[in-house]
Amino acid sequence: MNEVQQSFAAALARRASLLERARQEGTDCVRLFHGVAEGAAGLTIDRYGPVLLVQTQASRPVADADDVARLADQARRALDAGLALAWNVRGGAAVEQPPFEHGGPFVGHELGLSYDVRPRHRGQDPLLFLDFRAARRLVRARAAGASVLNVFAYTCGIGVAALAGGAREVWNVDFARSALEVGRHNAALNGLSPEAFRTIEADAIPTMRQLAGLGVKGRGARRGFTRFTARTFDLVVLDPPRWAKTPFGAVDVVNDYPSLLKPAIGCARPGGLVIATHHVPTVTRAQFEAIVRRTAEKMGRPFAELSIVGPEEDFPSFDGEPPLKIAVGVVS
Ligand SMILES: C[S@@+](CC[C@H](N)C(=O)[O-])C[C@H]1O[C@@H](n2cnc3c(N)ncnc32)[C@H](O)[C@@H]1O
Repeated sequence: MNEVQQSFAAALARRASLLERARQEGTDCVRLFHGVAEGAAGLTIDRYGPVLLVQTQASRPVADADDVARLADQARRALDAGLALAWNVRGGAAVEQPPFEHGGPFVGHELGLSYDVRPRHRGQDPLLFLDFRAARRLVRARAAGASVLNVFAYTCGIGVAALAGGAREVWNVDFARSALEVGRHNAALNGLSPEAFRTIEADAIPTMRQLAGLGVKGRGARRGFTRFTARTFDLVVLDPPRWAKTPFGAVDVVNDYPSLLKPAIGCARPGGLVIATHHVPTVTRAQFEAIVRRTAEKMGRPFAELSIVGPEEDFPSFDGEPPLKIAVGVVS
C-alpha cells in the first residue's frame, strides 16, 4: 500500500460507525476521504449511491490513473459494493479519464430521499454537494407547514428536503436552467408535488430585492427582469457562490456579504428562520458570525437566536475551521 492508500484505509476505518449510521438513516451519499484533513490534500473520494467519485486537482498530482483504480478497488472492498468509478480532474485542461461505461440509473440517497447523482453532466461540480447535507437535514427538520425561499438553489437539494419535511410551498431561485431541471427531476424522484415546488430561473439579486420590497439597482434595472411583488417567507436559505458578476451587481461574499444577506433577511417574516452560508476558508466562523449579526442589527432586525454550524462528520477539519459555515438564526 502506498501512502495515499494507507490514508484512505485509515479514513474508511474512522468512518465505520458513521457509515453504519448513514445506512440506517437511508444515506448512501457520503464523503469517504477528505484529503485536506486526512492526509492527501487535493484528493477527495465520495460515494454517490452506485458511483464512486474520485476528484483530484490538476495542480496537485497526488494520484494517477493506476492509483485511482486501486483506491476504487479499496472502496469497493470496504463497502462491499460494486461501485462504478468516475474520476474528475479539476482545475485544468481535461486530463484523460477512465472510461465511464456504467449505464445508470444514477440515483443516490440521503436521509431516505432520492437525488440525481449522474457523475457526467454539463458542469464539473457534483449534482449534490455532500457538505450541504447539514443544511438539508436542518431544513427538513424545521420546514413543517413553512413557506420556503431557496436562493442560489442549484439542483434544489434544499427545496426537496424542505418539501419532504412538510413545507407548504418552496420557491427555488437560480439563473442556471440546467440546474433547475435537475431540481425538478429530484422533486419528481421523490414523488413531491410539483405545484408546491416552484423553480424560478432568474437572477437572485433582483428577485430577493423585490421580494424584500427593496428597489432593483445596477445596469440590469434598466433592462427587463422577472417581476415579483413583495412578500415574506417563513424560512429563507441563502447559499451564494464565492463570486459571480451579474448586471444587477456582484455576488462577492468576501467583500460584500451584507448586500446579499440584507435582502435575504428582508424576505423572512418577523420570527422567521434564516439560513445563510459562507464557503470561503479565509473567512473564519467568528468573522462570519460578526457579519451576520451586524447586518441584521443595522436593519433593525437583530437575531433572536443565532448559531453557526459546520458540515457533518464525513467532512473532518484539521483546524476546527471548516470552510462551510452555516448561520442558522431566527430574525426579529
Ligand atoms: C454554491 S451553488 C449553490 C448550491 C445549492 N444551494 C445547493 O443546495 O446545492 C451556487 C449556485 O448559484 C447560482 N448563481 C450564481 N449567481 C447567481 C445569480 N446572480 N442569480 C441566480 N443564481 C446564481 C449558480 O447557478 C449555482 O447554481
